[in-house]
Amino acid sequence: MSTSSNQDPHPFELHSSRIAGDDRGRFDVEWSHRLLTTRDALDPSNPVLTGLLPEGDGPARLLAVVDRGLVEARPELPAQIEHWAESNPAAVRLVGDVVTVNGGEQSKQDFEVFEQTTRAINDGGICRKSFVLVVGGGAVLDAVGYAAASAHRGVRLIRMPSTTLGQADAGVGVKNGINAYGKKNFLGVFSPPWAVVNDTRLLTSLCDRHWRSGLSESVKVALLKDPAFFDLLCSTATQLRRRDLDVMEQVVHRTALLHMNHIVEGGDAFELEIARPLDFGHWSAHKLEQMSGFELAHGEAVAIGLSIDLAYGAMMGLVPEPVLRRTRRCLRDMGFTLSHAVLADHETLLEGLREFREHLGGRLTITLVREAGDPVDLHEIDLVVMRRAIEAIQQAGVNESSRAG
Ligand SMILES: NC(=O)c1ccc[n+]([C@@H]2O[C@H](COP(=O)([O-])OP(=O)(O)OC[C@H]3O[C@@H](n4cnc5c(N)ncnc54)[C@H](O)[C@@H]3O)[C@@H](O)[C@H]2O)c1
Ligand SMILES: [Zn+2]
Repeated sequence: MSTSSNQDPHPFELHSSRIAGDDRGRFDVEWSHRLLTTRDALDPSNPVLTGLLPEGDGPARLLAVVDRGLVEARPELPAQIEHWAESNPAAVRLVGDVVTVNGGEQSKQDFEVFEQTTRAINDGGICRKSFVLVVGGGAVLDAVGYAAASAHRGVRLIRMPSTTLGQADAGVGVKNGINAYGKKNFLGVFSPPWAVVNDTRLLTSLCDRHWRSGLSESVKVALLKDPAFFDLLCSTATQLRRRDLDVMEQVVHRTALLHMNHIVEGGDAFELEIARPLDFGHWSAHKLEQMSGFELAHGEAVAIGLSIDLAYGAMMGLVPEPVLRRTRRCLRDMGFTLSHAVLADHETLLEGLREFREHLGGRLTITLVREAGDPVDLHEIDLVVMRRAIEAIQQAGVNESSRAG
């Protein structure tokens, strides 16, 4: 409504003491989140992938982007994707050649994968009703997801994660992004995928390190939300290390569901509030990855990060010693090494706390657990004690390696 009068020559000029209008509205956007677990998704007779494509408008146009590291381990993969599409002509039409992009953290370190993907989306005429299928590790999912969420302000993305960490965590997340200015995930968007297809057969070509890597996220989420699952992890840790696919499938599925339920039911899918309880162990993990020049995989860094936060909790009298010991034993039985040379640089590592606060925006929140299933949020960290906790984890690592040597 205008507040002008005949005496006022500039009716729309706003003065600090006079606001011409304050109009508000509210809207909600509904998203659905789908997770399908299968084996051999690209077998032409497997209905899981084609079942995700809408019927009625002719075959869905689909661009496939795959992780180079995965293709090196499975050179037949691009041909399998082509064969799957050719065998289902009523459901899908592949656009252009299968695009192979750099795998691993390198895919997030610059704009190369982002550009390759947006260019292929452009060249292939992929529109908002078409699909991008990405097959790869968590890093490639993040970078290609960012490209897909940016092109046309968002094209439909089907994620097919190919690592344990990807299937258990990154794949069902709603975050996409790349690293920039020396910081993990500095550029990115929240955007849920059209669907996530966990083909657990893909995991069999992983090296031992990446086979195990996602299991630290299982320990993390079990400690936060599911004590019975924590017991299961402790009792199957050695089977998992010995690469039992049936046990891994169960563990990956339960972990993915816990992550997914947190997003769907937690009431804060896009992390607009302060606490992000699934970041247990992560303030140091992100910094450790970076300090090691990404020699430490994300899951390996999370295993160390969980140990540091629990050791801090124990020193502060919050976490009973047996909880710390049992967690460390479970992680070690899975095959994790719970230390790294970069831990010696305490001061750089502690900068991770400041960076974490900045990334959250506002108040620092560090979540750890008193017992499995009993999380607690800390907003103040005693740096003297945290330094001692880092030293203790570092020293335990030195002792373990001298025993092993
Ligand atoms: N978006 C999210 O919510 C979210 C959550 C957790 C982690 N992440 C991100 O995920 C990334 C880590 O992902 P990751 O642990 O999957 O590692 P990764 O993506 O770095 O992959 C590890 C290595 O395995 C190779 N590879 C992938 N699949 C393979 C297969 N089946 N066989 C053989 N080799 C294969 C890759 O080429 C790479 O060299 C980090 O960048 C992390 O920040 C994102
Ligand atoms: Zn993580």
